[in-house]
Amino acid sequence: MNLYKYVSESINAKLGFVANLEIPRNRAFGDFSTNAAMVMAKDAKKNPRELANEILPKLRELDFISDVSVAGPGFINIKLKDDFIWHAANQPHNAKSEKPKKIDLDYGGYNVGKALHIGHLRTSIVGDTFNRIAKYLGHTTKSYNHIGDWGRPMGLIIAWILEYGMPKNADELNKIYPASTARAKNDEEWMSRAKQITAELQAGNPEYRKIYDDFMKISLAQMDTVLHRLNLLPFDATMGERGVAPYVADTQKILGNRGLLVESDGAMVVNVKTDDDTAPMPPLMFRTSSDTQTYAAADLSAIYYRTKTDNPDIIGYFTDSRQNLHFQQVFRVAKMAGITNAELFHTGFGTLTGADGKPFKTRDGNVAELLEILDMVNDAVRTRVADAGKELDNETISSIALAAVKFNDLLHDVRSDYVFDPNQITSFEGRTGPYILYTAVRLNSVLKRAGDTSDTITSTLTTDERNLLIETLDFERTVQSAFDNRATDMIANYAYDLCQLANTFYHNCPILRDDVDAATRVQRLNITRIARDTLSTAIDLMGLKIPDEM
Ligand code: ARG
Repeated sequence: MNLYKYVSESINAKLGFVANLEIPRNRAFGDFSTNAAMVMAKDAKKNPRELANEILPKLRELDFISDVSVAGPGFINIKLKDDFIWHAANQPHNAKSEKPKKIDLDYGGYNVGKALHIGHLRTSIVGDTFNRIAKYLGHTTKSYNHIGDWGRPMGLIIAWILEYGMPKNADELNKIYPASTARAKNDEEWMSRAKQITAELQAGNPEYRKIYDDFMKISLAQMDTVLHRLNLLPFDATMGERGVAPYVADTQKILGNRGLLVESDGAMVVNVKTDDDTAPMPPLMFRTSSDTQTYAAADLSAIYYRTKTDNPDIIGYFTDSRQNLHFQQVFRVAKMAGITNAELFHTGFGTLTGADGKPFKTRDGNVAELLEILDMVNDAVRTRVADAGKELDNETISSIALAAVKFNDLLHDVRSDYVFDPNQITSFEGRTGPYILYTAVRLNSVLKRAGDTSDTITSTLTTDERNLLIETLDFERTVQSAFDNRATDMIANYAYDLCQLANTFYHNCPILRDDVDAATRVQRLNITRIARDTLSTAIDLMGLKIPDEM
């Protein structure tokens, strides 16, 4: 149950108007509070406290309320009945949307011939979690890995391979693009060759195509490795710049018919600036002067293709914030040309930085590769575990490392930069992935050691029991808000709060100890089960794996 929604709607129905329901920080006086009396007081021209006292009897009529009282200038504190909380918490979560939508999600977007780097971390993790959230809410999603596989880098790589031969593995392949780019900087002829090859590849040159197909295999295999290590859902479509190439002509025709294409120095652009723009808004580049497909043309054609094949209600993109302008331009053109009716959104991420505030680098000063980062965090976990005198198998260590990276990534507001510190994120205490997993393992182990649970309530709930159960009843609302606000950090923060309450409960409410009577034990076991189920659902949404022991 979405407890907040239920209580809020019941109160509004009872009072006949919409009041604001709040969750007080200190639950000692009430599980919820409302400013209803203060809102009404203005119109009624009454003293808010007086009015609050008049409202109390009405609220007492609601069968889930045990107690109401007036506080401060006229707030009404509301306490719920134990029985009601208990029964509500015993119902399985059901957060299915009443209006399921079709949603195309575009994240990952890795580049062929280049190693995945730290910049690909957030798009992968946040995109994947958003996908899981959308599915959990009953929406139909299609995830696209819009790979960078058709632009100038392809020409630069092919030019190099023609001269130095085919790379044997990903490591060799990933060195080519930087080397070829460096050469092109000082060697104009090399650059124009790369441009020429790019244009011919796009036009269907079979020799280039053969080379392209060969190194593509290496790249795709490498992407798979990363996806697997990050425990991402498989993409529904790996279809990027080349995949949409067959739809560029149609898209271009639409833009042309609408009179949107303008020639500019041999290139084709669309002017997107409006009179309201205060920030710079350059034209969108649809086709280059060397007649190659642009990044923007690919994205517009992708919208055209997706609209035609999926007919989505929403198309959402997750990339770093350096692409904010690009997506503004693309969305404007898509709407100006009437290519889609779908709602379009783009979430632009901040950067992962080192302690110095600059983009995170490895010790040798290079941009950190994604696999390197995972290895680095794996090592940090291994050291910690050894220092604590524990012995854990490799799989468990990987699960902890993955949780450290992903949870930390999800925890931060997606738009802001954050400091990436392998040591801090692997701590078993505080707002970290290992802490979340540790709590889940602990709840699981209690349940494993115990006998039956029961859903009958025998004694009144202690404060810790109440607080924990009420938090589980806030899960559905949290998932819904995370979706509505595209704020995956809400799930991470929720998981942390839930763990805090679960651990307080665990410390203060003995379960398996000999002096605990049987009725209390089954009741607490049931609370443990409810907390565990909710926590593991949150953990699933974040794409983490709970180890057997920690
Ligand atoms: N390949 C791009 C990059 O690494 C990201 C692609 C994002 N998706 C898109 N539809 N443009 O920067």
